[in-house]
Amino acid sequence: MHGRAGEEEEEVLSVDGDWSIRPCARFYSMEGEILRLPEIVEIKKKYKCYLYVDEAHSIGALGKSGRGVCEYWGVNPADVDVLMGTFTKSFAAVGGYVAGSKVHFQ
Ligand SMILES: Cc1ncc(COP(=O)(O)O)c(C=O)c1O
Repeated sequence: MHGRAGEEEEEVLSVDGDWSIRPCARFYSMEGEILRLPEIVEIKKKYKCYLYVDEAHSIGALGKSGRGVCEYWGVNPADVDVLMGTFTKSFAAVGGYVAGSKVHFQ
């Protein structure tokens, strides 16, 4: 886990001006910290933000069957607008994926 409760919401509210894209990488790094995805999804719904989650460090490593941070928390992947990951870390392969609903990719 990372930081204190409510930190993510303060982060979203602290953005001035155009906040159409707000990276939240600081909440999810290589030190084993785990994004509090349920809270982020709540914030996303409350402020009508888009949520893009990079699972480069979690796919294959988190969740009962390695499906990543959504599985770890029991969050519906449909609540994440764009989910991406790489095959170069846990899977020791090449390539990656970007997934989301059709409307976000048109
Ligand atoms: C958070 C994060 N996203 C994406 C990537 C990109 O992965 P790749 O090296 O397979 O292109 C990396 C690579 O280190 C990463 O750390």
